[in-house]
Amino acid sequence: MDRLKKSARLMIVSDLDHTMVDHHDTESLSLLRFNALWEANYRHDSLLVFSTGRSPTLYKQLRKEKPMLTPDITIMSVGTEITYGNSMVPDDGWIEYLNQKWDRNIVREETSKFSELTLQSETEQRQHKVSFYVQKDKALEVMKDLSEQLEKRGLDVKIIYSGGMDLDILPQGAGKGQALAYLLKKFKAEGKLPVNTLACGDSGNDAELFSIPEVYGVMVSNAQEELLQWYAENAKHNTKIIHATERCAAGIIQAIGHFNLGPSTSLRDMDFLESNLENLSQGHEIVKFYLFYERWRRGEVENSELYLANLKAVCYPTCVFVHPSGFEQSLRDCIDALRKCCGDKRGNIFRVWVDQVLPAQIGPGTCLVKFTKWELSGEERHGSITTVVLSSKDANSSKGFTWAHVHQTWLDGSGAKDHTTWLF
Ligand code: GLC
Ligand code: MG
Repeated sequence: MDRLKKSARLMIVSDLDHTMVDHHDTESLSLLRFNALWEANYRHDSLLVFSTGRSPTLYKQLRKEKPMLTPDITIMSVGTEITYGNSMVPDDGWIEYLNQKWDRNIVREETSKFSELTLQSETEQRQHKVSFYVQKDKALEVMKDLSEQLEKRGLDVKIIYSGGMDLDILPQGAGKGQALAYLLKKFKAEGKLPVNTLACGDSGNDAELFSIPEVYGVMVSNAQEELLQWYAENAKHNTKIIHATERCAAGIIQAIGHFNLGPSTSLRDMDFLESNLENLSQGHEIVKFYLFYERWRRGEVENSELYLANLKAVCYPTCVFVHPSGFEQSLRDCIDALRKCCGDKRGNIFRVWVDQVLPAQIGPGTCLVKFTKWELSGEERHGSITTVVLSSKDANSSKGFTWAHVHQTWLDGSGAKDHTTWLF
């Protein structure tokens, strides 16, 4: 990971289903709270790692369904596939390592002799992962018999049971914990071991994450029986692991606070218009602005001229906003246009979030901040790559920023929205 010049302040390694993503939270509110916390306080100097049992196909599907951030590193298929960055470049060293004592044809042949096993969909069968469903009451016995059979055939495998239904067979050296250990070893070799690492999970395939030394861990409140049982048998005395009282992403935020790993209050949980929060960072400024925009249109803030005047006060008179459609307008005029849409989304689905807010210094007291802005309105979701030029108001005290330029480009090529519906 070359983005960071030095050790990450915090590396979060999180499972997705029922950990980062709460499938019972229809509005994904806890995820949106985490997103705001991460982008305002951590993105610029920390690392986000997603570690999921899903194959790339199902992972990409989830990203379309839920307001998920883009991780720096993606570990998929239960720690058998590691990729880096936006373009998901695979780690070839890891693939090579996993080939040892592994032959998926033998695994398929031996497992076909077990009538208790039902093969999962074709997308979930990967080079180093063969996956089935098996009933809870049959799982232990099947796992025991199967591992004996595979050992006889000369394979060294790992069998993992998760969510009270999924059975994965992987090479012995694979798994979420081994993949994390591999990453930590790589960082150490580069002299960039993260200052703190927090592992987050809810089910059987996450147990390994909690057995890596030096790593903090949170089992979210809704953790599965098999994980809690593993914890009781193996890690009860480890004070670096907690069982949160909050569900999913809210449990992750809780753990950041519990272990004192950094700021743990999301801007979404703050009445930031009333509090006198001086801007800590560019990320903070961007998250705050778009959260105001969401609340304004949802009708959750008072329709007050004062807010608009405050916004205008932090724009250079010459500041231009280039809309993704190409339409160009002074930013102050755009703010004036907000007047007529206060509460226009009241009672409707309307959420705004930003992803990968990354500032780059381009001059003394001046930063170019690039990020993706997402807007969910009803059933429609659109994204735009956005760049904002921010100047420090006072170069000496770094108190607050002034907006100098905003430019957006549609992410999905969609020109469907004009500047009367998509405002910022
Ligand atoms: C995900 C995968 C599945 C796997 C399960 C548990 O649901 O799609 O193949 O068995 O995680 O690891
Ligand atoms: Mg899970």
